[in-house]
Amino acid sequence: MRKPILISGIQPTGNLHLGNYLGALKNFVELQNSGKYDCYFFIADYHSLTIDFNSSEKSSEILAVASAYLASGIDPKKSTIFVQSQVPESTELAWIFNALTPLGEVERMTQYKEKREQKLGTDVGLLTYPLLMAADVLLYDAKFVPVGKDQLQHLELAREIARRFNNRFGKTFIEPQALLTKTPRVMSLNDPAKKMSKSLPEGCLFLSDSEKDIENKIKRAVTDSGSEVKYDAQNKAGVSNLLLIYEALSGAPISRLEKKYSGKGYGQFKTDLVKLVTDSLKPFREQKTSSIKLKSMLNAGAKKAEKLASKKIKVVKKKLGLLD
Ligand code: ADP
Ligand code: TRP
Repeated sequence: MRKPILISGIQPTGNLHLGNYLGALKNFVELQNSGKYDCYFFIADYHSLTIDFNSSEKSSEILAVASAYLASGIDPKKSTIFVQSQVPESTELAWIFNALTPLGEVERMTQYKEKREQKLGTDVGLLTYPLLMAADVLLYDAKFVPVGKDQLQHLELAREIARRFNNRFGKTFIEPQALLTKTPRVMSLNDPAKKMSKSLPEGCLFLSDSEKDIENKIKRAVTDSGSEVKYDAQNKAGVSNLLLIYEALSGAPISRLEKKYSGKGYGQFKTDLVKLVTDSLKPFREQKTSSIKLKSMLNAGAKKAEKLASKKIKVVKKKLGLLD
């Protein structure tokens, strides 16, 4: 029997960091290795054009995500890795969804409203972004989509679009299900009230950071005036964030970590965390697949994705009464 299709994408928008790894990549690898799905992981380069960008950096940002996919353990023999813009059917389908989706449904998306308020873009793509995302998923008949909480609303819209299309034109699309990533939000090392993000580089552990950078950032990470390694998100947000990172990377539950460091103070805890993070991120520092090899892997992935995409778009056009 064919395995259900699972798909997800990451935007190439600069340096990837520990939040991206624990919030997305690590989960992708676990899903791949479960053997339960036919996995497609792509690089959402068209989506990334809705965020201010520099064209001279875009191709290296795209290859950096491809390289991070490999370093994290996504294996091109098990999963299909490709670049969104190399399978043009997703933008074709996105146009069709643009034509068939009431304006109000995209205008009420939280991410759109927030970005507009924060003046993080004024281009039309900011509004129609979830329609391209719906196309990314529905084009491949994906049943499962691992995403963070912030993307749930977009996925719900994709389900609505599938339902409406099926009702009007006959069963065409599968309604995709979100697989919510279990990992907690990783917070900034120097401001645990904010999420770890590349826009706050000081408190952000980048996957490409050197051992020295990792050590400096963790040693300087904000804690509190106490000395007890204990989880207390309210009163000890800094230490709690470090404990969450420790737990996520080591697999040891926080309760065991609290016992291990009881009475030992923050020094030993931080030293061990430096070692854990340094070891965990080693594959990213050492990933040296050449651009040529990465590109050829991505071309092969696009060819495979294209096979599904070209079949599907033909079916969709036919249902709409278009000529093929
Ligand atoms: P950034 O905030 O650095 O711009 P993105 O918004 O591009 O990161 O995030 C890409 C992916 O990584 C998303 O799936 C998101 O859920 C996840 N992610 C980003 N930051 C974090 C974080 N601090 N903790 C957990 N997951 C995160
Ligand atoms: N919007 C997602 C993000 O910012 C990236 C993305 C684009 C995506 N298309 C997708 C994720 C399709 C899952 C499925 O994180």
